[in-house]
Amino acid sequence: SSLLLLNGPNLGILGRRQPEIYGTATLADIEAAVAKRVADRGWQVVAVQRESEGELIHAIQDNYDTVGAIVNPGALMIAGWSLRDALANYPHPWIEVHLSNVWAREAFRHESVVSPLAAGVIAGLGPLGYELAAEALLRTVPTS
Ligand code: DQA
Repeated sequence: SSLLLLNGPNLGILGRRQPEIYGTATLADIEAAVAKRVADRGWQVVAVQRESEGELIHAIQDNYDTVGAIVNPGALMIAGWSLRDALANYPHPWIEVHLSNVWAREAFRHESVVSPLAAGVIAGLGPLGYELAAEALLRTVPTS
């Protein structure tokens, strides 16, 4: 089985992106931590980061055979309506993660168009949020 780990625009440069907000861990660090966390269950991680909404949509459409997903939509949280439609057709639970506490930041980050479809939302815990999301999926996705 595989878990989809989807990261949106500007998350591929983590580690050198506003480290005072997003920290110094790289996306590779995060992907490795998630992979390690789910390895005992025999899950592989399909890690995809794209700068554009269309490519993220393709990644969702191409990975319906995963067991669940962790999604950081980046700024597409604000107006990513077609990403939202793609997630609406993703046939498994998925968890929205934000590194930063979006509610402690600018008002335009206070609402996410994808959140109503998420099984849960984790924000403000940095890279740990991805690991906690993985843990939540481990506990909620039935063993097949
Ligand atoms: C983010 C928060 C978003 O508002 C921002 O546009 C990002 C990163 C986060 O992980 O904290 O790109 O999703």
